[in-house]
Amino acid sequence: MTGKIRAGVTGWPVTQSRSPLVHGYWLKKYGIDGSYEKIPVSPEDAEAFYGSLATSGLKGCNVTIPHKETAAAACNILDQAAKKMGAANTLWLDDENRLCGANTDGLGFLGNLDQMAPGWDDKRDCAIVLGAGGAARAIVWALSSRNFTEVHIFNRTVEKANEIADQFGSAVYAHSWDKLGTFLGKTDLLINTTSLGMAGKAALEIDLGDLPKEALVTDIVYVPLMTDLLKQAAARGNRTVDGVGMLLHQAVPGFEKWFGVRPEVDDDLRRLVLDDLEKNA
Ligand code: ATR
Repeated sequence: MTGKIRAGVTGWPVTQSRSPLVHGYWLKKYGIDGSYEKIPVSPEDAEAFYGSLATSGLKGCNVTIPHKETAAAACNILDQAAKKMGAANTLWLDDENRLCGANTDGLGFLGNLDQMAPGWDDKRDCAIVLGAGGAARAIVWALSSRNFTEVHIFNRTVEKANEIADQFGSAVYAHSWDKLGTFLGKTDLLINTTSLGMAGKAALEIDLGDLPKEALVTDIVYVPLMTDLLKQAAARGNRTVDGVGMLLHQAVPGFEKWFGVRPEVDDDLRRLVLDDLEKNA
């Protein structure tokens, strides 16, 4: 491929995506002759779109809701996380024009904590994951990759937590929400992956009273940036990490595959995205 390298975010809808802002920042910062576009792909067109990516003129793309499974199915090669989740959020063409897919949500979660809370996984006896959607699955994968001894998933619909636990094996346990109190006292890491606490959604009602003071608390919700969960945790002295870094770090592998530079998640990028979130709140 010669000339300008093209990539973009695909999904239905893509209007709300912050990915163009993130990749646009990096293209400018590293002086790369490339573009990153918003590419709406309707559900009817999804299979054909990903199936013919190799001839589309794109070097690759991000994939967002609702196409992550369709995109994974179209790939010739999947990374370990995408294979495990049956869902891909990052696609690229390799040197032989084969379609490759990765799921970088878990890596985004790890990259955020590695950057904002170095040493966070030194103690990894017990993690609690609230919620059992797609984000929870990626995070359970991430915690398994760092060898957490026990991961406990709590969800309103316990069957969904069970599905993830069954898939990830003996270190991962599923529980109904009302059992949370039993485990809070021994946890090293508490993660909210539900939409509770997000602007416009119901509050996450949780009593952190038994949580050890050394535990780290993080939330994937980033509007508001300081969720009530994070505020409550910080007020009692727990270390906290907000969710916007996961959004930024999950974008790193794609940029590197398409444009050949491993980009840095720096303060200016974080500021840029936070300002945009505020502006459009
Ligand atoms: P994603 O794939 O982005 O993680 P999702 O699949 O919609 O999003 O998952 C949202 C999570 O928030 C789920 O765990 C959901 O619980 P259910 O599986 O029981 O639906 C949780 N959630 C959303 N609203 C909730 C509420 N009012 N009370 C409790 N949990 C809620």
